[in-house]
Amino acid sequence: MKIAVAKGDGIGPEIMEAVIGIFDAAKLPLEYQYVDMGKWVFDKGFSNGMTPEAKDAIEQLGVLFKGPMETPKGKGVKSVNVTARKTWNTYANDRKFQTLSGVDTVFSKAGINIDLTIVRENIEDTYGGIEHMLTQDVAIARRFITRGGSEQVIRYAFEMAQKKGAKRITCGHKANIMKLTDGLFLEVFNEIAKEYPNLKADDVIVDDLCMKLVSRPDLFDVIVLTNLQGDIVSDLCAGLVGGLGFAPSSNIGDHISIFEAVHGTAPDIAGKNIANPTSLLLSGLNMLRHLGMMEKAVMIENALLFTLESGIHTGDFGDKSIPSVNTTVFAKAIIDNFGKQPSHHPRPSLKDFDFVPTNSAISKNPMLLSSKNEPHKILGADFFIESTLQPNELAALAIMHEKDQLKLVTISNRGTQVWPTGSVFTNLVNQFRLRFETDAASPLTQADILNLYSALSKDFTISSIEILNMWGDKKAYSLAQGQ
Ligand code: NAI
Repeated sequence: MKIAVAKGDGIGPEIMEAVIGIFDAAKLPLEYQYVDMGKWVFDKGFSNGMTPEAKDAIEQLGVLFKGPMETPKGKGVKSVNVTARKTWNTYANDRKFQTLSGVDTVFSKAGINIDLTIVRENIEDTYGGIEHMLTQDVAIARRFITRGGSEQVIRYAFEMAQKKGAKRITCGHKANIMKLTDGLFLEVFNEIAKEYPNLKADDVIVDDLCMKLVSRPDLFDVIVLTNLQGDIVSDLCAGLVGGLGFAPSSNIGDHISIFEAVHGTAPDIAGKNIANPTSLLLSGLNMLRHLGMMEKAVMIENALLFTLESGIHTGDFGDKSIPSVNTTVFAKAIIDNFGKQPSHHPRPSLKDFDFVPTNSAISKNPMLLSSKNEPHKILGADFFIESTLQPNELAALAIMHEKDQLKLVTISNRGTQVWPTGSVFTNLVNQFRLRFETDAASPLTQADILNLYSALSKDFTISSIEILNMWGDKKAYSLAQGQ
């Protein structure tokens, strides 16, 4: 079996060499095709941080094992890590957090065992990076949560939880505030949960989830979250088991999967051969499990746990009264401990299975379409305009442009209603939303909205517009705070 390997920048080559050395010593049936990605590829003028040959190889092989990569600072260059995850649609970021004996934490000292998995949606949310300045004072970001994207990651989480033998799967969200975006994610979670009656499925609001995780992490099993909340909660969980150096990460897609350490390139210690290879090794072990090499993965993981338990450590963790070892010595200790079992939480042996690559050639971009097909109506539009007028003055001017059936119903500023009712204590910025809705039974057309746009543009600087839709009997937009 052949996989693509990108060593990465900074400490990347050192920790990758250590991990491949461990894999070679374990005589894995793996071949490596080294590909060019990272800072020096950006520096050579490849704006996406990878050569065309690297892209072709990864698309053909379907598995990428990568070290951390530096994103050059400055505008116009996007992170190669994020580009890779998004371009190849690795929609599920699977991060496992387990107590490791030899890595002391407040929980290990209290005898509380942690074994939880965070599945973070990896493509959508604010990570589309679609941001605009509406006025010189006001920046906005678009937050995408889609039915198809949510289905992919939530189904992955349920399947993984079932295979792991989990008892509980929890959806973390903020649907009490973001009723349409987080609400859609939660709705999809609840729909898919019905197909897995053996799993206890529940949901927790993300702030409450954080509080519960830092007090009783042992009560959780598998947690699925949207991208930004998942990003934050997964690093919180890394802290529970000893830090980012002990947190593996898999980015799983239907065709291509990426396995990487979650920490960065550690420029402060690069080239010194003192970096800790554990996170990359644990990510590599996830990759072996993904490829069906369960027995070897368990053997190497038990050797790692035995090594940690015996007190051998790199400089970034462990008992300070025991001198630290360098990266090479740490990797050699793991190899020497092949076949040994740690006394705490040894990983149980599992049977190998045949990996079936899903990397069949595809010639069209897959379209994620749901079966929803409710009748559609346009009920109005939100016009985002720049103004320093007071709400009443603004309303008087806007009402002059009301069209036959399109009436001004609310004005809000930063989402808070300031007209027809509001408070003089609400601070304003120079960007308002004027909401026009139809009061007629017949739905509007796009031309009606364009006519209103044209009329309003005579008096206002319009920065953007959002159509107010309705599907079936559900209004597809939120109310202003106070509306
Ligand atoms: P970092 O994770 O590289 O370093 C933070 C601190 O942790 C440093 O003190 C470092 O020495 C230490 N550290 C990190 N990994 C370690 C290891 N394996 N062993 C021992 N100590 C370790 O984060 P930072 O400084 O914010 O980012 C540096 C660069 O890495 C940036 O260019 C950033 O864009 C990139 N980065 C890449 C990621 C990826 O490829 N997935 C993820 C995060 C950052």
